[in-house]
Amino acid sequence: MVAQRLDGKACAAVVEEELLDRIKACKVNGVVPHLAVVIVGDDPASHVYVNSKVRACERLGILSTHIELPSDASEQQVRETIQSLNAKSDLHGILVQSPLPKHMDEEALTDLIEPSKDVDGFHPQNLGRLVQGRMDGMLPCTPSGVMRLLSWAGIETKGKSAVVLGRSRIVGMPQSLLLGAKGVDATVTVAHSRTKDTQSLCKDADIIIAAVGRAEMVRPDWVKEGAVVVDVGINRVDDESRERGWRLAGDVHPDVAQKASWLSPVPGGVGPMTIAMLMENTVRAAEQTQRA
Ligand code: GUN
Repeated sequence: MVAQRLDGKACAAVVEEELLDRIKACKVNGVVPHLAVVIVGDDPASHVYVNSKVRACERLGILSTHIELPSDASEQQVRETIQSLNAKSDLHGILVQSPLPKHMDEEALTDLIEPSKDVDGFHPQNLGRLVQGRMDGMLPCTPSGVMRLLSWAGIETKGKSAVVLGRSRIVGMPQSLLLGAKGVDATVTVAHSRTKDTQSLCKDADIIIAAVGRAEMVRPDWVKEGAVVVDVGINRVDDESRERGWRLAGDVHPDVAQKASWLSPVPGGVGPMTIAMLMENTVRAAEQTQRA
């Protein structure tokens, strides 16, 4: 079997197209959706991600404010930045790019973001709603992007067994909740660094979501014939044959395409979906200010 491509770029283009009408309607009501992206430090990958988010805003006519703080900024400076963004009534979404420098308490800072502006869906109030099975709040962008991609491809989840590799706050944990939610109805196993025999769990799974940050960990002999495999990983691996000395690799080995029925590429799979969902959350936040 050769896997069909779970094409995040194509799916994200559909999502963005739908958003254009909603953005237009906001503007008719005098509201221009506005996202603030805060980045602290000089992690090159984070800067690439943040630039893609700002470019998506430009594409769609969403206002963006890009705030950069140095890696030696104090936690208090980030607090004050968040508080001043919370207070701006013409700003609808706040995203603090993760990871923050090690001397900062990322969770405490997330707690400070006004929940209605928490377009990452990481605030305890929004995550709490997700745990309760209320899907109408801000949902974390990467896992909700994965769900949108599965549904765009017409992939059935009801009664399927799903393995989520990784239990991170940003992806694995919320992903497992979304897959197991009423109406989605997968039976979910979360595997992590202490799980015994992850390979055989994967081998039994109908759906594998790999979000561990280990290059090409999921190999063809981990995958059942015909399984759906979503690759959330984006890793830099040394590659002397490239001029720049490295290449991007997902958490899934490319040869898995010979076993899976669907496989998301890296890049061009989950990445564009994360950004599309961030745009959607920002537009929803702007719409909600008009209802309030
Ligand atoms: N770092 C990696 N992914 C994300 C994300 O979805 N949101 C934020 N804030 N930081 C990230």
